[in-house]
Amino acid sequence: MGYLLNIENLETSFNTGDGVVKAVNGVDLVIEEGEIMGLVGETGCGKSVLGLSIMGLLPTNAEVKGTIAYKGLNLTGLPEKEIRKIRGKEIALIPQNPSTSLNPVLKIGFQVAEVFHLQQRLPWKKARQAAIEMLRSFDFPDPGKRAEEYPHQLSGGMKQRVLAAMGIAGEPSLLIADEPTKGLDALIRIQVVEILRQLVLRTSATMLLITHDLKVASCLCDKIAVMYAGEIIETGPTRDILSLPRHPYTRGLIASLPSNGLVPVRGLSPSLIELPAGCKFHPRCNQAAKDCAQKHPRLEIVDDGCKVRCLFNDQNCKPEKKLFHGSFQKEAG
Ligand SMILES: Nc1ncnc2c1ncn2[C@@H]1O[C@H](COP(=O)(O)OP(=O)(O)O)[C@@H](O)[C@H]1O
Ligand SMILES: [Mg+2]
Repeated sequence: MGYLLNIENLETSFNTGDGVVKAVNGVDLVIEEGEIMGLVGETGCGKSVLGLSIMGLLPTNAEVKGTIAYKGLNLTGLPEKEIRKIRGKEIALIPQNPSTSLNPVLKIGFQVAEVFHLQQRLPWKKARQAAIEMLRSFDFPDPGKRAEEYPHQLSGGMKQRVLAAMGIAGEPSLLIADEPTKGLDALIRIQVVEILRQLVLRTSATMLLITHDLKVASCLCDKIAVMYAGEIIETGPTRDILSLPRHPYTRGLIASLPSNGLVPVRGLSPSLIELPAGCKFHPRCNQAAKDCAQKHPRLEIVDDGCKVRCLFNDQNCKPEKKLFHGSFQKEAG
Protein backbone atom coordinates (compact mmCIF):
# COMPACT_ATOMS: atom_id res chain seq x y z
CA MET A 1 0.00 0.00 0.00
CA GLY A 2 1.13 3.50 -0.70
CA TYR A 3 2.06 4.95 2.63
CA LEU A 4 3.83 8.26 2.48
CA LEU A 5 6.08 7.20 5.34
CA ASN A 6 6.51 3.69 6.63
CA ILE A 7 8.91 3.31 9.52
CA GLU A 8 9.77 -0.25 10.45
CA ASN A 9 11.72 -1.43 13.46
CA LEU A 10 13.66 1.79 13.74
CA GLU A 11 16.43 1.87 16.33
CA THR A 12 18.47 4.98 16.91
CA SER A 13 21.18 4.94 19.56
CA PHE A 14 24.01 7.23 20.60
CA ASN A 15 27.44 6.16 21.75
CA THR A 16 28.36 8.29 24.73
CA GLY A 17 30.99 8.21 27.46
CA ASP A 18 28.35 6.89 29.87
CA GLY A 19 27.17 4.08 27.59
CA VAL A 20 24.82 3.54 24.69
CA VAL A 21 21.72 5.76 24.82
CA LYS A 22 18.86 3.85 23.22
CA ALA A 23 16.70 6.77 22.19
CA VAL A 24 14.48 4.99 19.65
CA ASN A 25 13.75 1.31 20.31
CA GLY A 26 12.08 -0.58 17.52
CA VAL A 27 9.56 1.99 16.35
CA ASP A 28 6.96 1.04 13.75
CA LEU A 29 4.96 3.98 12.49
CA VAL A 30 2.95 4.57 9.35
CA ILE A 31 1.90 7.99 8.10
CA GLU A 32 -0.63 8.12 5.31
CA GLU A 33 -0.88 10.89 2.78
CA GLY A 34 -2.86 13.89 4.02
CA GLU A 35 -3.05 12.92 7.67
CA ILE A 36 -1.74 14.64 10.75
CA MET A 37 -0.01 12.22 13.06
CA GLY A 38 0.74 13.39 16.57
CA LEU A 39 3.74 11.94 18.38
CA VAL A 40 3.30 12.54 22.10
CA GLY A 41 5.17 11.58 25.25
CA GLU A 42 7.16 13.02 28.12
CA THR A 43 10.34 14.98 27.52
CA GLY A 44 13.29 12.71 26.81
CA CYS A 45 11.30 9.76 25.42
CA GLY A 46 12.90 10.03 21.96
CA LYS A 47 10.46 12.13 19.93
CA SER A 48 12.96 14.60 18.53
CA VAL A 49 15.46 11.84 17.82
CA LEU A 50 12.77 10.05 15.80
CA GLY A 51 12.16 13.26 13.84
CA LEU A 52 15.86 13.84 13.27
CA SER A 53 16.27 10.22 12.18
CA ILE A 54 13.66 10.77 9.46
CA MET A 55 15.46 13.94 8.37
CA GLY A 56 18.88 12.29 8.40
CA LEU A 57 20.11 15.01 10.73
CA LEU A 58 21.73 12.99 13.49
CA PRO A 59 25.15 13.66 14.99
CA THR A 60 28.08 11.37 14.17
CA ASN A 61 27.81 9.36 17.40
CA ALA A 62 24.39 8.10 16.31
CA GLU A 63 23.65 4.67 14.89
CA VAL A 64 20.45 3.97 12.97
CA LYS A 65 18.96 0.55 12.21
CA GLY A 66 15.70 -0.40 10.53
CA THR A 67 13.91 1.24 7.64
CA ILE A 68 12.32 4.60 7.04
CA ALA A 69 10.55 4.21 3.72
CA TYR A 70 9.50 7.51 2.21
CA LYS A 71 7.36 6.97 -0.91
CA GLY A 72 8.92 3.54 -0.97
CA LEU A 73 12.52 4.78 -0.79
CA ASN A 74 14.48 3.69 2.27
CA LEU A 75 16.11 6.77 3.78
CA THR A 76 18.33 5.01 6.30
CA GLY A 77 21.80 4.58 4.95
CA LEU A 78 21.12 6.85 1.99
CA PRO A 79 24.21 8.94 1.14
CA GLU A 80 24.07 12.56 2.32
CA LYS A 81 23.97 13.76 -1.28
CA GLU A 82 20.71 11.83 -1.90
CA ILE A 83 19.16 12.85 1.43
CA ARG A 84 19.79 16.47 0.55
CA LYS A 85 17.48 16.13 -2.45
CA ILE A 86 14.70 15.10 -0.09
CA ARG A 87 15.35 17.36 2.88
CA GLY A 88 13.51 20.68 2.72
CA LYS A 89 11.84 19.88 -0.57
CA GLU A 90 10.13 16.54 0.13
CA ILE A 91 10.35 16.43 3.91
CA ALA A 92 10.79 19.59 5.94
CA LEU A 93 11.37 20.08 9.62
CA ILE A 94 10.15 22.91 11.79
CA PRO A 95 12.81 22.44 14.44
CA GLN A 96 12.25 22.35 18.18
CA ASN A 97 14.19 25.41 19.21
CA PRO A 98 13.26 28.68 17.48
CA SER A 99 16.01 30.68 19.22
CA THR A 100 18.85 28.54 17.93
CA SER A 101 17.32 27.45 14.63
CA LEU A 102 17.30 30.81 12.89
CA ASN A 103 20.51 32.35 11.67
CA PRO A 104 21.10 35.34 13.98
CA VAL A 105 23.02 37.39 11.43
CA LEU A 106 20.54 37.14 8.54
CA LYS A 107 17.34 39.10 8.12
CA ILE A 108 14.24 36.97 8.52
CA GLY A 109 12.88 37.97 5.10
CA PHE A 110 16.06 36.67 3.53
CA GLN A 111 15.89 33.41 5.47
CA VAL A 112 12.37 32.70 4.22
CA ALA A 113 13.18 33.91 0.68
CA GLU A 114 16.17 31.59 0.57
CA VAL A 115 13.87 28.57 0.91
CA PHE A 116 11.78 29.74 -2.06
CA HIS A 117 14.95 30.39 -4.02
CA LEU A 118 16.65 27.08 -3.25
CA GLN A 119 13.68 24.71 -3.08
CA GLN A 120 11.24 26.27 -5.54
CA ARG A 121 13.95 27.74 -7.78
CA LEU A 122 12.33 31.16 -7.77
CA PRO A 123 14.58 34.03 -8.85
CA TRP A 124 15.62 36.18 -5.87
CA LYS A 125 13.19 39.01 -6.54
CA LYS A 126 10.21 36.66 -6.77
CA ALA A 127 11.47 34.69 -3.79
CA ARG A 128 11.56 37.83 -1.71
CA GLN A 129 8.01 38.74 -2.69
CA ALA A 130 6.87 35.24 -1.90
CA ALA A 131 8.58 35.47 1.49
CA ILE A 132 6.75 38.67 2.32
CA GLU A 133 3.44 37.16 1.27
CA MET A 134 4.19 34.12 3.38
CA LEU A 135 4.95 36.28 6.41
CA ARG A 136 1.71 38.15 5.79
CA SER A 137 -0.23 34.90 5.74
CA PHE A 138 1.34 34.09 9.10
CA ASP A 139 -0.17 37.26 10.54
CA PHE A 140 2.93 39.41 10.50
CA PRO A 141 1.75 42.99 10.54
CA ASP A 142 3.62 45.10 7.97
CA PRO A 143 5.55 42.08 6.66
CA GLY A 144 7.68 44.13 4.24
CA LYS A 145 9.18 46.00 7.16
CA ARG A 146 9.36 42.93 9.41
CA ALA A 147 11.27 41.08 6.70
CA GLU A 148 14.14 43.52 7.26
CA GLU A 149 14.45 42.54 10.92
CA TYR A 150 16.85 40.11 12.54
CA PRO A 151 15.71 37.17 14.69
CA HIS A 152 16.65 38.88 17.98
CA GLN A 153 14.14 41.63 17.20
CA LEU A 154 11.25 39.13 17.21
CA SER A 155 9.26 37.60 20.04
CA GLY A 156 9.35 33.84 20.62
CA GLY A 157 5.97 33.39 18.94
CA MET A 158 7.10 35.34 15.89
CA LYS A 159 10.29 33.33 15.56
CA GLN A 160 8.20 30.18 15.73
CA ARG A 161 6.06 31.53 12.90
CA VAL A 162 9.12 32.38 10.81
CA LEU A 163 10.27 28.78 11.21
CA ALA A 164 6.82 27.51 10.27
CA ALA A 165 6.92 29.77 7.19
CA MET A 166 10.33 28.38 6.25
CA GLY A 167 9.05 24.85 6.80
CA ILE A 168 6.24 25.16 4.29
CA ALA A 169 7.92 27.50 1.79
CA GLY A 170 9.38 24.51 -0.02
CA GLU A 171 5.90 22.94 -0.21
CA PRO A 172 7.09 19.69 1.31
CA SER A 173 4.99 16.54 1.03
CA LEU A 174 5.72 15.79 4.66
CA LEU A 175 6.16 18.37 7.37
CA ILE A 176 7.65 17.46 10.71
CA ALA A 177 6.84 20.05 13.37
CA ASP A 178 8.86 19.50 16.54
CA GLU A 179 7.27 21.06 19.63
CA PRO A 180 5.91 24.07 17.78
CA THR A 181 4.16 25.29 20.94
CA LYS A 182 6.79 24.59 23.56
CA GLY A 183 7.69 27.50 25.80
CA LEU A 184 5.01 29.76 24.37
CA ASP A 185 2.50 31.47 26.62
CA ALA A 186 -1.15 30.43 26.40
CA LEU A 187 -2.20 33.12 23.96
CA ILE A 188 0.64 32.57 21.49
CA ARG A 189 0.12 28.84 21.82
CA ILE A 190 -3.44 29.23 20.58
CA GLN A 191 -2.15 31.35 17.69
CA VAL A 192 0.42 28.78 16.67
CA VAL A 193 -2.11 25.94 16.89
CA GLU A 194 -4.44 27.99 14.69
CA ILE A 195 -1.66 28.69 12.18
CA LEU A 196 -0.75 25.03 11.97
CA ARG A 197 -4.37 24.14 11.46
CA GLN A 198 -4.69 26.66 8.63
CA LEU A 199 -1.42 25.53 7.18
CA VAL A 200 -2.63 21.98 6.94
CA LEU A 201 -5.93 23.03 5.40
CA ARG A 202 -4.20 25.32 2.94
CA THR A 203 -1.45 23.02 1.78
CA SER A 204 -3.11 19.65 2.41
CA ALA A 205 0.28 18.73 3.80
CA THR A 206 0.92 15.55 5.66
CA MET A 207 2.32 16.31 9.07
CA LEU A 208 4.09 14.61 11.91
CA LEU A 209 3.40 16.82 14.90
CA ILE A 210 5.78 16.17 17.75
CA THR A 211 4.61 17.48 21.10
CA HIS A 212 4.74 16.72 24.81
CA ASP A 213 1.34 18.41 24.99
CA LEU A 214 -1.45 15.89 24.49
CA LYS A 215 -3.97 18.68 24.30
CA VAL A 216 -2.24 20.35 21.36
CA ALA A 217 -2.05 16.98 19.63
CA SER A 218 -5.70 16.24 20.27
CA CYS A 219 -6.72 19.57 18.75
CA LEU A 220 -4.79 19.08 15.54
CA CYS A 221 -4.16 15.43 14.86
CA ASP A 222 -6.12 12.73 13.06
CA LYS A 223 -4.10 10.06 14.78
CA ILE A 224 -1.90 9.91 17.82
CA ALA A 225 1.10 7.75 18.62
CA VAL A 226 2.16 7.71 22.26
CA MET A 227 5.86 7.20 22.85
CA TYR A 228 7.48 5.97 26.04
CA ALA A 229 11.18 5.25 26.54
CA GLY A 230 11.86 5.02 22.82
CA GLU A 231 8.87 2.84 21.97
CA ILE A 232 5.41 3.46 20.60
CA ILE A 233 3.12 2.13 23.33
CA GLU A 234 -0.23 3.04 21.84
CA THR A 235 -1.46 4.42 18.56
CA GLY A 236 -4.76 5.00 16.82
CA PRO A 237 -7.28 7.62 15.73
CA THR A 238 -7.23 10.60 18.12
CA ARG A 239 -10.86 10.11 19.04
CA ASP A 240 -10.29 6.53 20.15
CA ILE A 241 -7.07 7.27 22.00
CA LEU A 242 -8.82 9.97 23.98
CA SER A 243 -12.11 8.24 24.63
CA LEU A 244 -10.80 4.75 25.26
CA PRO A 245 -7.10 4.86 26.11
CA ARG A 246 -5.94 1.30 26.63
CA HIS A 247 -2.42 1.73 27.89
CA PRO A 248 -2.00 2.78 31.54
CA TYR A 249 0.58 5.36 30.45
CA THR A 250 -1.85 6.94 27.98
CA ARG A 251 -4.45 7.04 30.73
CA GLY A 252 -1.85 8.69 32.93
CA LEU A 253 -1.13 11.35 30.31
CA ILE A 254 -4.82 12.10 30.02
CA ALA A 255 -5.18 12.38 33.81
CA SER A 256 -2.25 14.78 33.86
CA LEU A 257 -4.00 17.32 31.64
CA PRO A 258 -4.84 20.60 33.38
CA SER A 259 -8.55 20.05 32.74
CA ASN A 260 -8.34 16.74 34.56
CA GLY A 261 -6.62 18.13 37.61
CA LEU A 262 -2.96 17.85 36.60
CA VAL A 263 -2.40 14.48 38.28
CA PRO A 264 1.11 13.57 37.14
CA VAL A 265 2.13 10.07 36.12
CA ARG A 266 3.96 8.85 39.22
CA GLY A 267 7.70 8.21 39.11
CA LEU A 268 10.26 9.19 36.49
CA SER A 269 11.08 8.05 32.97
CA PRO A 270 13.78 5.37 32.94
CA SER A 271 17.35 5.95 31.86
CA LEU A 272 17.69 5.17 28.17
CA ILE A 273 21.09 3.63 28.91
CA GLU A 274 19.75 1.00 31.32
CA LEU A 275 16.19 0.28 30.32
CA PRO A 276 14.00 -1.87 32.59
CA ALA A 277 13.38 -5.48 31.57
CA GLY A 278 9.88 -6.51 30.52
CA CYS A 279 7.46 -3.68 29.91
CA LYS A 280 9.47 -0.47 30.07
CA PHE A 281 6.61 1.24 31.85
CA HIS A 282 6.08 -1.40 34.55
CA PRO A 283 8.01 0.37 37.35
CA ARG A 284 5.57 3.27 37.10
CA CYS A 285 2.44 1.35 36.29
CA ASN A 286 -0.25 1.09 38.93
CA GLN A 287 -1.63 -2.01 37.27
CA ALA A 288 1.62 -3.90 36.79
CA ALA A 289 1.50 -7.63 37.47
CA LYS A 290 4.34 -10.11 37.94
CA ASP A 291 4.66 -10.85 34.22
CA CYS A 292 5.15 -7.20 33.37
CA ALA A 293 8.64 -7.17 34.88
CA GLN A 294 9.74 -10.03 32.62
CA LYS A 295 7.74 -10.07 29.42
CA HIS A 296 8.21 -7.35 26.89
CA PRO A 297 4.79 -6.71 25.35
CA ARG A 298 4.45 -6.33 21.61
CA LEU A 299 2.51 -3.59 19.92
CA GLU A 300 -0.69 -5.56 19.29
CA ILE A 301 -3.53 -4.60 17.03
CA VAL A 302 -6.76 -4.10 18.94
CA ASP A 303 -9.94 -2.88 17.29
CA ASP A 304 -10.67 0.35 15.38
CA GLY A 305 -7.19 0.61 13.92
CA CYS A 306 -5.69 1.00 17.39
CA LYS A 307 -2.54 -0.71 18.60
CA VAL A 308 -1.38 -1.10 22.16
CA ARG A 309 1.74 -2.45 23.86
CA CYS A 310 0.46 -3.87 27.14
CA LEU A 311 0.20 -7.45 28.36
CA PHE A 312 -3.20 -6.72 29.81
CA ASN A 313 -4.71 -4.71 27.04
CA ASP A 314 -7.71 -7.00 26.83
CA GLN A 315 -8.55 -6.20 30.44
CA ASN A 316 -8.55 -2.54 29.68
CA CYS A 317 -10.36 -0.35 32.14
CA LYS A 318 -12.42 2.68 31.46
CA PRO A 319 -10.51 5.95 31.68
CA GLU A 320 -10.73 7.30 35.22
CA LYS A 321 -11.05 10.85 34.00
CA LYS A 322 -13.26 12.19 31.35
CA LEU A 323 -11.39 14.05 28.72
CA PHE A 324 -12.16 17.62 27.82
CA HIS A 325 -14.43 18.34 24.91
CA GLY A 326 -14.70 21.45 22.82
CA SER A 327 -12.17 23.79 21.39
CA PHE A 328 -8.60 24.48 22.29
CA GLN A 329 -9.39 28.08 23.12
CA LYS A 330 -11.88 27.18 25.79
CA GLU A 331 -9.44 24.88 27.49
CA ALA A 332 -6.27 26.92 27.32
CA GLY A 333 -4.90 28.87 30.26
N1 LIG B 1 23.43 13.61 20.43
C1 LIG B 1 23.04 12.89 21.48
N2 LIG B 1 23.91 12.14 22.19
C2 LIG B 1 23.49 11.40 23.22
N3 LIG B 1 22.21 11.31 23.64
C3 LIG B 1 21.30 12.03 22.98
C4 LIG B 1 21.65 12.85 21.87
N4 LIG B 1 20.53 13.45 21.40
C5 LIG B 1 19.53 13.02 22.19
N5 LIG B 1 19.99 12.17 23.14
C6 LIG B 1 19.20 11.49 24.17
O1 LIG B 1 18.15 10.80 23.54
C7 LIG B 1 17.01 10.78 24.38
C8 LIG B 1 15.79 11.26 23.62
O2 LIG B 1 15.93 12.63 23.37
P1 LIG B 1 14.86 13.49 22.56
O3 LIG B 1 14.48 12.76 21.32
O4 LIG B 1 15.44 14.84 22.39
O5 LIG B 1 13.64 13.53 23.55
P2 LIG B 1 12.24 14.28 23.36
O6 LIG B 1 11.20 13.23 23.43
O7 LIG B 1 12.14 15.21 24.55
O8 LIG B 1 12.28 15.02 22.08
C9 LIG B 1 17.36 11.64 25.60
O9 LIG B 1 17.72 10.80 26.64
C10 LIG B 1 18.52 12.45 25.11
O10 LIG B 1 19.37 12.80 26.19
MG1 LIG C 1 12.19 17.02 21.66
